[in-house]
Amino acid sequence: MNTTQSLQGSYTYSSRPKIDKEPSRHALVGDHYLSSVTGEEDGRKRLRELRVYESTLELLRGMWPTPLVKLRSFGEVWAKLEFFNAVSRSIKDRTAVRIIETVSKMGVKKIVDATSGNFGIALTLLANLLGLKVTVAIPRRTSREVELLLRLLGAEVVRAPCEVNDHVMVSYCKKLAESIEAFFTNQFESELNPEAHYMYTGRELAEQLRAANVRPDVLVVALGTGGHAVGIARALRESFGDVYVVGVASSRLDYIPGIKPGDTYRKWRDSVNEIVEVSLRDAARGVIEVARREGLLVGLSSGAVVSALERHVKPRLGADKVYVLVFPDDAQKYLSVLCEVAFS
Ligand SMILES: Cc1ncc(COP(=O)(O)O)c(C=O)c1O
Repeated sequence: MNTTQSLQGSYTYSSRPKIDKEPSRHALVGDHYLSSVTGEEDGRKRLRELRVYESTLELLRGMWPTPLVKLRSFGEVWAKLEFFNAVSRSIKDRTAVRIIETVSKMGVKKIVDATSGNFGIALTLLANLLGLKVTVAIPRRTSREVELLLRLLGAEVVRAPCEVNDHVMVSYCKKLAESIEAFFTNQFESELNPEAHYMYTGRELAEQLRAANVRPDVLVVALGTGGHAVGIARALRESFGDVYVVGVASSRLDYIPGIKPGDTYRKWRDSVNEIVEVSLRDAARGVIEVARREGLLVGLSSGAVVSALERHVKPRLGADKVYVLVFPDDAQKYLSVLCEVAFS
């Protein structure tokens, strides 16, 4: 069984793949595919290798494991690229698919959650696939663009009387869910959120590191709900013992999409060894550094992680350590903010 298969668990095809046994028709694909087409199992394997999927849900899991890449110019630094998730192009596919599949098995048809970004996009798109209705509560400061995007994707959008997604927003959503008879999926408090990152993102990462013979000393992760920090930290510690975890928060004065100020929501407090605060300007600098040095176009929270690593973590813990970073999404949504910060 190869790595991809073992990570995908019980993965079934609803219909038998069509297997073409005529080698010459596949010559352009490469010799690799020509030799072993002998039966159903080989046919399945080949469809995976060729990235042919019979549904979006199958595609989502087919993209796992997301790549792990060494950022050579930064030293012994490895980054997991979560913008390879197929649905929202972000790490939030992990949480959303776990939540949506779980609640739909419970028979839930209508859900509510608070989100102003990637989670809302992932949740709405996956709910569309499984036939659930979604109401998304967004804080006041959410841009009109995000609101329209969520509507366009099929969500009901409610502007909540809250500045940010915090405890007040959670209470608001509880009441909202009651009033419209929906299920509050509550990404901030649901165990399904860290669990998704333990089961999927974290175990994948541990398996990738083991295969590459890399023993991580330090994990550096962005903090929003804390879901991926908690889940990934647990999986890495389970595999490698003592791994030091640095959480990256936004400074109080700034808004970095996806990241919260350190004291907003402290679900991660038992998993994270220290918090580093990063400004929006430094997050943008981090994005530019990764683009110019490594040829990768990463998002602002990824830039914040790199900035924390370079300006705070490495100078204190040492450049000889093995660092693992998680890049939650890419730069496409933030180009105007990036340009504004970079050129002003
Ligand atoms: C771009 C981005 N970075 C970081 C995060 C934080 O992830 P988590 O909620 O798992 O802490 C999010 C969450 O929405 C995000 O969208």
